[in-house]
Amino acid sequence: MTKKLYIETVGCQMNMLDSELVVANLRKDGYELTRDANQADTILFNTCSVRQHAEDKIYSALGRLKNAKHRNPEKVIGVLGCMAQKDQRLIFERAPYVDLVVGPGQLHQVPTLIREIEAGAEPRMEVSLGRKDGSRSQIERSHESYDPLRDPEMRPTPYQAYVRIVIGCDKFCTYCIVPSVRGPEQSRPPEQIVSEARQLASEGCKEITLLGQTVNSYQHRNGKKVTRFSDLLHLLHEIDGLERIKFVTNYPKDMTNDLLAAVRDLPKVSKYLHVPVQSGSDRMLERMKRGYTIAEYREMHSRICEWIPTAAVTSDFIVGFCGETDDDFQQTMDLVSELRFKNSFIFKYSERPGTKGAQMFADDVPEEVKRRRNNQLLDLQNAISEEDNQIFLGQTVEVLVEGPSKASSKKGVQGDVLQLTGRTSCDRIVVFTGNRRQTGEILPIGIYDANAHTLFGEVMTTHAGPELYALEH
Ligand code: SAH
Ligand code: SF4
Ligand code: F3S
Repeated sequence: MTKKLYIETVGCQMNMLDSELVVANLRKDGYELTRDANQADTILFNTCSVRQHAEDKIYSALGRLKNAKHRNPEKVIGVLGCMAQKDQRLIFERAPYVDLVVGPGQLHQVPTLIREIEAGAEPRMEVSLGRKDGSRSQIERSHESYDPLRDPEMRPTPYQAYVRIVIGCDKFCTYCIVPSVRGPEQSRPPEQIVSEARQLASEGCKEITLLGQTVNSYQHRNGKKVTRFSDLLHLLHEIDGLERIKFVTNYPKDMTNDLLAAVRDLPKVSKYLHVPVQSGSDRMLERMKRGYTIAEYREMHSRICEWIPTAAVTSDFIVGFCGETDDDFQQTMDLVSELRFKNSFIFKYSERPGTKGAQMFADDVPEEVKRRRNNQLLDLQNAISEEDNQIFLGQTVEVLVEGPSKASSKKGVQGDVLQLTGRTSCDRIVVFTGNRRQTGEILPIGIYDANAHTLFGEVMTTHAGPELYALEH
């Protein structure tokens, strides 16, 4: 008999991938996905701890399940991912009806744990060692990378896939919880990555996105042989069938020339570089312990522009970090005006207990000021994105079609001809009218309009060939 699984995922692409793998694994146990938590036999939350808001969302969703569990004690409720690793037993205290708490390093155990709970076992918690709870190699081993080979039906889209290449993080930016919940930085062996990518390509996957918190810090040693990130890109580029290779997120200090040369020289590698600067003020960068100055970031940025003039560079920013003055914030505004990012993700600082930032500095910028700075920076970035996107008017771009646009999906458009959406290789979103069956194809789209986040266009039909000419005459 099929069982029904409801899963809610918050957080970064790493979490999206983890959820996809958990679902794939549970399908083998006869589970089917449902969008209705009431109908589900098992409810899973794959959680994020990067900001307080992400945690609040999950705790209130858990709160709403109290009665559901009361009505149907057979229902299995599990909390997976970063918040499971961070809060551990606190989750049982706040929601005593939770059956499973599983950290990101133990996700391979989920099917067995669910079976045990169904058979009547007590609530279970499986998490990794903390960063101070053992030797580096013990801690590394307790954060097991979960990357089973998937079959095509188990991916949300058959022609796109995430591939993990680095797990964990060792940068310890003072505001950030990731190094403590995702554990030490570890690069997967290149052979594993290449064989995963080969299998994906053989199943019709056209685009892979390589994932790591600091993806360009990738480095794998096997005896004397060192594989750098640029070497890995060269290896992946050889794979027939793969047409696009993307990667996120880059750490500014590891943007080496061999990497820029690989991005420039390998046509399948997307000219899209997400390299978060976080702040335009050296004083803030120092407090954040980002490990570079604005002068160094600027030097890196101009190297990108020089080597890869068509590159789309994007950033993340934290506004209202501890002690941020109007002057510090103005320096961030000035940097955005100067470097004109394609896009920026802007976050209000959220203090994370247990981080160096929380220990060393007071979270002293009032919420109101954080909000104002957030909006101001967002307005500036949007104006820049809109202005810079106008350059695409009249141009033809290559788009990998991802399916019905948000508007079409919302309206529940039925027919074959409808508004579709896709992305250029430099990660710009393009909306156009096409046929549902074109999903997964790479099409030339002529652009006639553009706002800050979207290009609008139409499918360019290629020059009529002889057959068509004959038909018309
Ligand atoms: N590894 C990536 C991103 C990790 S989290 C990197 O180093 O860039 C994604 C983004 O969330 C970060 O870039 C940062 O801008 C933001 N972020 C992380 N911790 C935060 C916190 N405590 N409060 C607000 N934003 C935070
Ligand atoms: Fe967090 Fe910094 Fe690591 Fe990114 S590099 S995950 S911001 S500690
Ligand atoms: Fe969040 Fe964990 Fe990703 S804390 S941002 S889901 S690594």
